[in-house]
Amino acid sequence: MKLKIGCISGDGIGPEIVREAKKVLEKTAGKYGHEISWTEILLGGASIDVHGVPLTPEVVQAAKESDAVLMGSIGGDANTSPWYQLPPDRRPEAGLLAIRRELGLFANLRPAVLYEELADACPLKKETSEAGFDLLIMRELTGGLYFGERRTTVENGLRTAVDTLVYNENEIRRIAVKAFDIARKRRGKVTSVDKANVLDSSRLWRAVVNEVAADYPDVELSHMLVDNCAMQLVKDPAQFDVILTENMFGDILSDEASMVTGSIGMLSSASLNDTKFGLYEPSHGSAPDIAGKNIANPIATILSAAMMLRYSFDLDKEADDMEQAVKQVLKEGFRTADIMPEGAAASCRKCSCSEMGDRIAERI
Ligand code: IPM
Ligand code: MG
Repeated sequence: MKLKIGCISGDGIGPEIVREAKKVLEKTAGKYGHEISWTEILLGGASIDVHGVPLTPEVVQAAKESDAVLMGSIGGDANTSPWYQLPPDRRPEAGLLAIRRELGLFANLRPAVLYEELADACPLKKETSEAGFDLLIMRELTGGLYFGERRTTVENGLRTAVDTLVYNENEIRRIAVKAFDIARKRRGKVTSVDKANVLDSSRLWRAVVNEVAADYPDVELSHMLVDNCAMQLVKDPAQFDVILTENMFGDILSDEASMVTGSIGMLSSASLNDTKFGLYEPSHGSAPDIAGKNIANPIATILSAAMMLRYSFDLDKEADDMEQAVKQVLKEGFRTADIMPEGAAASCRKCSCSEMGDRIAERI
């Protein structure tokens, strides 16, 4: 099979982690007789440095012409980087939001899995970490507060800012359908998270999710308020299978879910539209403080590349192989700094970003 992949190395640790993911993908493609063609795409700070803007129409076009896009990370240190002297709509993150919107990537899948080998890094109570968990946050990605009207004005002499949280029923329905579809392939459970005791948008959300649920009698649906969900994620994450939620809640809950796995450096994500196309990126940011030091954890990006094979190319066997290789290398004790806690077992060995990529590629 020919795989046409767009590649956004991005900012901070982005280029280092993407290099390792490409290494592992190339190895996998070689083993199974696939051929990858890469198109380099500039986004975020890397694009500002060249074009003065975080996203150009050519890049949107190049992404559209690819079957899927693999991305590292976007953004820099807001206190020191000159990118943050620019107006908000010209900063790196604006490029990411714009490409999500331009490509219609409304469904953001963020799995959070506690790896047995990393249970020691889990900050939860021992009985909770021993039980393990495997959940997936289905975050709506192109609506809500992120894309509603916003302005800052002076009202009666007071600086006043407004952000708008808007959803129409179609936007809610299509993300709910994605959540139910994926729950069917997992453990058949959807927890829809909202703030229906306060927000109109959440009351509509709940009503539409209930309508969609009628078509999925085999999937168990429950509703949970977002504040309670934040609490339940640290109390008993094993209760969750698929968490379905709107954009802002999903942004916050997915960082929380990743932290309870022990390292945000392990979590992959996929942003999908209604076709097979997807943008695949680690859930973590660009970590400018450790950029260029070859110490970042490339596993989240490698697992995102595995998600790409699974969702955009239907190459399940190849994706399984990549995921198994990651588990194997962890089992053998290789750890990047972020997953090497003080007092780690003597069998663990600290390794660099590139060595982690090499080891995983070797296991394919
Ligand atoms: C994420 C990030 C982005 C978001 C930022 C960089 C705009 O936090 O992908 O979770 O808020 O969606
Ligand atoms: Mg976030």
